[in-house]
Amino acid sequence: MSLNNIITEFISKAREEDNNLFPFIANKKVFNEEKDSVYYSGPYWDDQEIEAIFHSILKGKWLSAGESVDRFEKRFSKKFNSGHSLMVNSGSSANLVLIAALKKHFDWKDGDEIIVSCVGFPTTINPIIQNNLKPVFVDINWDDLNWNLDDVERKIGPSTRAIFSSPVLGNAYNLERIVNICSENKIELIADNCDSLGSKWNGKYLTDYAVASSCSFYPAHHITTIEGGMVSSNVEEIINLARSFAWWGRGCHCVGKQNLLANGVCGKRFDKWIEGYDETVDHKYLFENIGYNLKPADLQGAIGMVQLKKFDEVHSIRRNNKDQLDSIFQRINGLRTINELPQAETSWFGVPLVCESKAQKRSLVKFLEENRIQTRNYFAGNILLHPAYRKIDDFTKYPIANKVMDRVFFVGCSPTISNEMINYIEVIVDQFISTTKHQENNEK
Ligand SMILES: Cc1ncc(COP(=O)(O)O)c(C=O)c1O
Repeated sequence: MSLNNIITEFISKAREEDNNLFPFIANKKVFNEEKDSVYYSGPYWDDQEIEAIFHSILKGKWLSAGESVDRFEKRFSKKFNSGHSLMVNSGSSANLVLIAALKKHFDWKDGDEIIVSCVGFPTTINPIIQNNLKPVFVDINWDDLNWNLDDVERKIGPSTRAIFSSPVLGNAYNLERIVNICSENKIELIADNCDSLGSKWNGKYLTDYAVASSCSFYPAHHITTIEGGMVSSNVEEIINLARSFAWWGRGCHCVGKQNLLANGVCGKRFDKWIEGYDETVDHKYLFENIGYNLKPADLQGAIGMVQLKKFDEVHSIRRNNKDQLDSIFQRINGLRTINELPQAETSWFGVPLVCESKAQKRSLVKFLEENRIQTRNYFAGNILLHPAYRKIDDFTKYPIANKVMDRVFFVGCSPTISNEMINYIEVIVDQFISTTKHQENNEK
C-alpha cells in the first residue's frame, strides 16, 4: 500500500469513528443553527493539508525548516511578485526580523523615526521599539478607518526613515499618494501585509509599492500554516539579513538541500571568515548579527503549498461574503459599513461595522455573541490607550482612534463562513432590528 493510500485511509477511518474530527474542514460540516458557533475565521482546510502534514513528518529528514519551507518561500514569492521571501514562525516574527534587516541594510541609527498608525495590531509597532527605533503615530480617518495621509505627511521630520503601512482588515487606500510622499521625502515604504494578502491598488498588490513586506499565516488570516509568517522583498540582501536574524544571527544562508553541499552555496564554507583570527572557521558557525531562532517547522511549509493553491478561491469568497454581510448589516438603523475605494480590490480580512453610538455597539455585540456569532474589536483600537503603551505617547491626541474603540467592531468574512451561516446571521440581525424597534416603542 502506498504512503498516500495509508494516509487517506487513516483520515477516513478517523472521520468514521468521530464525526466531529477536523472541525474546520472546508464547509464539509453541516451547520446546526441551534448550537453551532459562527467563528469569525479559521483554517480553510481539507484532507490535502492533513496529508501534507503526514507526508512531511513521515518523509522529512530534519523536520525543521528545510525543503518544504524552501519550496513554499519560492512559490509564495512567485505568486505575490516578490524576488525573495523568508518564512518564519509568525507574522510578529516576520515584522521583528523585517525591521532588524531594514535597519541594518539602510544603516538606520538608534532613535530614527518610523511612522505608524496608532490603530492596528501591537506587533506592527513593537519591532520598531525592540529595534531601538522610534514609532511616530498618526491618527486615522473616520470615513474609511485607514490612516490619515495628511497626518502622515505632517509627521515627517529630519529623523524619519520609513513609513510602516498596515491597512486594518486589508482595506486598500491611496498607495500612489503614499509612494509620492515617500519619494518626495526620500524615505522607505514598508508594508505589514498580515491583514491584506492579495489586496490590490490600481491592479497591483499593495506589497508591489513597498521595499519589503511581512505576512501572517495565523489561522485567522487568508491562508494558514497553523502559525507562520513571511518576509518578502525584491532586494536580496534584505531577505538574507532577515534570514540571519531569524536563524540565530548566523552568516550562512544555505537552505534545505544546500546544507548538503560540502562547501555550501558560498563555495567557501571553511575559510578565514573572522578578521583578526588567522584560522579557518566553518561559515555555518559565523555569527554576523545578534539574532533569534524564529524558524518554522518544515511541515508548515508543506501546508503552505497546499494553502497557496486555494488563495484565489479564498480571495473571491472573502469578497463575496463581505458584500453579502454588508447588505445584511446595513439594514440596522444608523450602522455604517465601509466600501472599498474605486481603485481598490480588497482581500477583506473582516467586515468592519461602524455603529452610531457606544450603546449601539454594546448592544449589537452582545446580541451577536449571545447568538453564537463571533465579533472582534477593531484590533487594539487606539494602541496608546493600552497599559503597555501609555508612556509612549498621549492617547488623547488621536481622537478618531479613540472613537474607534467606542463604536467600531468587525465580524468575519472567511471562507469557513458558509451560505447557511450567512442566512443564520441574517435571521439574527433581523431579530436584533425588531427587538431594538420594540424597545424604542416601549420607551416612547
Ligand atoms: C496587521 C498585523 N500584523 C501582525 C500580526 C501578527 O501576526 P501573528 O499573529 O502571525 O504573529 C497580525 C496578527 O493578526 C496583524 O493583524
